[in-house]
Amino acid sequence: MGLNVTPVREIRPDTLLDRANALISTYKTASNPELIQQLPQAAAGLGDLCPPPDPAAGLHVLRGLTADDTGLGATPPSWSDASPTRTAEWDVVMLLLASAMGRPFGWEGQQDGRLVHDIVPSRGHEHEQTGASSTVTLAAHNEDAFHHRRANLMLLGCLRNPDRVATSAASVRHAGLDDADVEVLSAPVLPILPDDAYDDARDSSLEPPRVPTLWHGEDGLCLRFDPAYTPLEQAGADYRAAYGRLCRELDRVKVGVRLEPGDVLVIDNDAVVHGREPFRARYDGTDRWLKRVSVRLPGRDRPSAETAEHGYGQQPIDPYEER
Ligand SMILES: [Fe+2]
Repeated sequence: MGLNVTPVREIRPDTLLDRANALISTYKTASNPELIQQLPQAAAGLGDLCPPPDPAAGLHVLRGLTADDTGLGATPPSWSDASPTRTAEWDVVMLLLASAMGRPFGWEGQQDGRLVHDIVPSRGHEHEQTGASSTVTLAAHNEDAFHHRRANLMLLGCLRNPDRVATSAASVRHAGLDDADVEVLSAPVLPILPDDAYDDARDSSLEPPRVPTLWHGEDGLCLRFDPAYTPLEQAGADYRAAYGRLCRELDRVKVGVRLEPGDVLVIDNDAVVHGREPFRARYDGTDRWLKRVSVRLPGRDRPSAETAEHGYGQQPIDPYEER
């Protein structure tokens, strides 16, 4: 895996921290609905500080924030044990960054509908294909690929990563695919089933919609990809062969990003798949700990057929939708 080739954007954190702390002094935590309503206004003018990644790269790391290892307290054993006050500053900074780029949103079925997710290894989940896993390689995927209202951007803020575990990322725009493969993979042949993070959606009896793997977007080739939840055996030989070539190309062009505390990785979820190398969880309060926020870019289009999908009954929580 290529290392250290990810674009880094240095940011001065002063304005972000001032604004975050002003919000916290009034509203206390990032889950306060009044704070969430104030975010678009509070993020005004921050767009130059933290724009979305360049389309050709599809990702970058924002660097300049710090994570106070002592002040954070112990890494919680699961997302549900995370204290909303202890990391309030980080949570609100993540939401300000997200609001500077687009609209942060959550999901009814994930982490109690919070907009900021805690990604920590959890006992009993070591072998899953979710962010709570550790022992296994988290295979490259688009975030929430099963759903037509998945994020356009995903932010991963690093509070702690003592073993320097690499997040992997691969842009479909760097993959060497011929036109015939792009055409084959642009047909809606296979469904993408909900991942293990969504219990309700996995119980859905709705007919899974078949979706294209690739399409041409305004900024270049885009993909919707999650092989761990794609029943490839249902496709014909031509499709399986093209899908296999896509998998191998994504693996060939992937980069490893070893996030340091304070780094915020921004990934274009329409062009770049991400994963994680395996690691041994410590379960002693010092484990890897990331904050994740999903972001919608209101002006970005996807294949129009997606709007007819049911999303397996899973609803996003989009606090700004009616505005
Ligand atoms: Fe993911």
